[in-house]
Amino acid sequence: MNKTVLITGASGGIGLEFAKIFASKGDNVILVARSEDKLIRIRKYLEEKYHIFARFYAKDLTLPNAAKELFDEIVSDGCKVDYLINNAGFGDNRAFLHADWETHEKMVKLNVLALMELCYLFGRAMYNRGGGKILNVASVAAFSAGPYMSVYFASKAFVLSFSEALAEEFKNRGVSVTCLCPGPTESNFGNASDYGKSNAFRFMKLAKAEEVARTGYKAMMSGKTLSYHGINVKAMTFLTRIVPRSVSAKFTKFMNDTDASHKHKL
Ligand SMILES: NC(=O)c1ccc[n+]([C@@H]2O[C@H](COP(=O)([O-])OP(=O)(O)OC[C@H]3O[C@@H](n4cnc5c(N)ncnc54)[C@H](OP(=O)(O)O)[C@@H]3O)[C@@H](O)[C@H]2O)c1
Repeated sequence: MNKTVLITGASGGIGLEFAKIFASKGDNVILVARSEDKLIRIRKYLEEKYHIFARFYAKDLTLPNAAKELFDEIVSDGCKVDYLINNAGFGDNRAFLHADWETHEKMVKLNVLALMELCYLFGRAMYNRGGGKILNVASVAAFSAGPYMSVYFASKAFVLSFSEALAEEFKNRGVSVTCLCPGPTESNFGNASDYGKSNAFRFMKLAKAEEVARTGYKAMMSGKTLSYHGINVKAMTFLTRIVPRSVSAKFTKFMNDTDASHKHKL
């Protein structure tokens, strides 16, 4: 029987690729992001191409009560969510004191709090039903401290730790929790965060968003807890386990460096 997947951050990048994969398997999709115009076009495209049922909720998940409102609207619209993909997120490639406070606060609200609340609400429904799958998008950033992107790296470390904990708590109820850790990937993320100008984006081969979503999809369907995409990412996560954290923080500082991230005066 067709299942229903809820994907946050589905208006572009990795989230949109997830939506295409699920739709191509015949699953219905619920798309969430802020850009209503894009969501309207994507819904039409998915329904016409894959003959599935798509709906969208245009929401800014950093706003107070947004996650609860989304949950309530989906329930009152009579939808049952079988799969939850917490993918919406953003970064900011600037030294901690150079970025404005509102950006730091919004990042934690989206990357951490909204993800946590959606796991709480939809996770509870899945737990009580005795089945479901959750995938949270973290990053290779989860494995190290990240100078010049400190809040983003810390938010992804939260997502990794939180997902691994939930995976253990939920597994006896038939609910799997997968944490996907991509490395630098082609999407709007590089522009939106300025990370596109960093050494990481200059020196590393960028993954395709579609391939990253495929890796995540396979891991989610097989109930794996951790999923990395690409040999570079596997090598980096391995290295962060064997080198002292102070060394990996220095390496990450170099990788996150851009001409603009910290060099102008405060
Ligand atoms: N690209 C990379 O190099 C990379 C590497 C590792 C991890 N990741 C992670 O992968 C995930 C997806 O990123 P991406 O690379 O696909 O970037 P992206 O192309 O910038 O996509 C981000 C998505 O999140 C949505 N979004 C942003 N702010 C939102 C808000 N306040 N409320 C609701 N939705 C919001 C955006 O839609 P709207 O603008 O329409 O709201 C968009 O659909 C993120 O969690 C990111 O941290 C990315």
